[in-house]
Amino acid sequence: MNFEEIEAIVKKQLSENRFFHSKCVAKRCEELAEKYGVDKQKAKLIGIEHDIAKEWSEEKKIKYAETNQLPIDEIERQQPGLLHAKIGAHIGKMEFGFTEDMVEAISAHTTGKKNMNILAKILFIADATGDDRTWEDLEEVRKIANEDIDKAILYLLNVEIKDRINKDKAIHINSILARNELLFNRKLANEK
Ligand SMILES: [Fe+2]
Ligand SMILES: [Fe+2]
Repeated sequence: MNFEEIEAIVKKQLSENRFFHSKCVAKRCEELAEKYGVDKQKAKLIGIEHDIAKEWSEEKKIKYAETNQLPIDEIERQQPGLLHAKIGAHIGKMEFGFTEDMVEAISAHTTGKKNMNILAKILFIADATGDDRTWEDLEEVRKIANEDIDKAILYLLNVEIKDRINKDKAIHINSILARNELLFNRKLANEK
C-alpha cells in the first residue's frame, strides 16, 4: 500500500484534529529523516499511521490487544489509552506490511524505550514537535532535535516525566529506562 492509500484509511479512523496532528507528525518525520539520513518514506508512513487507534474506546483497545495476544502491562491496564501505540504497531505490521523497525518505532511512540532505533527516535520527537503543537519548550526542543536527537529526547522525557509527577500520574517504566540509558550514554561521551 502506498502513502496515500494508508493516509485515506487513517483519516477514516480519526477526528479532524487528530488527523491534522498525524499529517503534521508525518511532515516532521520526513524532515527529521532527511536530516539524519533515514528512509523518508518509512518515516512519513509511521508518522501518518502512529495514532490510528488513538480514538478507539478503552474497551475496543483492550479487546483488540487481547484478541491479538498483545501483552498488556500493569500501567496499560490502568491507562488503556496507552495501548494505542502497540495496536497501531500491530495494524501497521498486519495490514500495511510495515517493516520491523517501523513497527518497533510505532510501538514505542508514547513512552519511549531503551535502545530506540532511529525511526523510533524520529517519531518520538516528531509527535511532540509538529506544526500542530504549542507548549512551553517547543522551540527549544525543535532546535535541539535538529542538532542532537538523543539530547532532544532526553529533554522531552524530562518535561513529560516532570509533568506526570506534577499531575500525580504513574510513569511508565520504559520512559525511565529510556531516560537512564540516554543519561548514561551522555555521561560516557562527556568522559571521553
Ligand atoms: Fe500517540
Ligand atoms: Fe501522536
